[in-house]
Amino acid sequence: MVEEEFTLASITDGLETSFIGRKVIYYPSLASTMLVARQEAQRGAAGGTVILAGEQTEGRGRVERTWLSPEGNIALSVILHPDVASLPYLIMIASLAVVHSIEAVTGLKTQIKWPNDILIDGKKVCGILIENEVKGNKAVYAIVGIGINVDLGPSDIAGISAPTTSLKAELGKKVLLADVVRHLLVEMERLYLTLPDGEPVFQAWRDKLVTLGKRVRVESGGTVLEGIAESVDGSGALLLRHTDGSSTRVVAGDVTLSDNK
Ligand code: BTN
Repeated sequence: MVEEEFTLASITDGLETSFIGRKVIYYPSLASTMLVARQEAQRGAAGGTVILAGEQTEGRGRVERTWLSPEGNIALSVILHPDVASLPYLIMIASLAVVHSIEAVTGLKTQIKWPNDILIDGKKVCGILIENEVKGNKAVYAIVGIGINVDLGPSDIAGISAPTTSLKAELGKKVLLADVVRHLLVEMERLYLTLPDGEPVFQAWRDKLVTLGKRVRVESGGTVLEGIAESVDGSGALLLRHTDGSSTRVVAGDVTLSDNK
């Protein structure tokens, strides 16, 4: 069977958005969409500009990790110009947009592991990385980087230490990358336009969190914390309740659920 060749038009033609994805800059191969997006943002790229890669050779994950993104998977960064007050909602919007697009295109059920890993059946299918440039009380730009494992095969997955999956592995058949990207951009814009009222986005994100109520281990800024993930607040921080009754508010970190998922 001849593999269908990717065309940018398969994403942009008839895309029903007013600003996200109006300009998509496609690179068959680049180091990281985050780097190119930052350069474009510094050169004054319009909000909603998307940097899309066929493959990344130096894909970046959170906390200095690498992100594997060979051809056939989604690697993109969206440049936005939000208000500072809207910055905490970007994680929630990106997570929900991924969840909605995967569920719409594949019918697969997804969950969010705090703060923004997307899981299918306890295995990571998507990671999100957000980088902001803030000066004073103004966000100069924000870059939302999204990597979705669409086509990652068993040998790639076997080389990743955390439980990992891909849409193809879960569905047992190929998923059209362009369909997922189109839904993703439409959903991101729809959710983004609900701001500055972040409450509906916050509630929808909280309701999808698989982490809440679970015993967790959180690695945050070089320390390891353990407890029950009790709640999240409106800024997206996690409230961890320890066995001695005390609590810690965690703003960023890496969560492992106690059942090892
Ligand atoms: C994580 O879970 O650690 C975050 C992974 C983020 C990966 C995406 S792929 C597109 C963008 N470019 C990168 O280099 N990283 C993000």
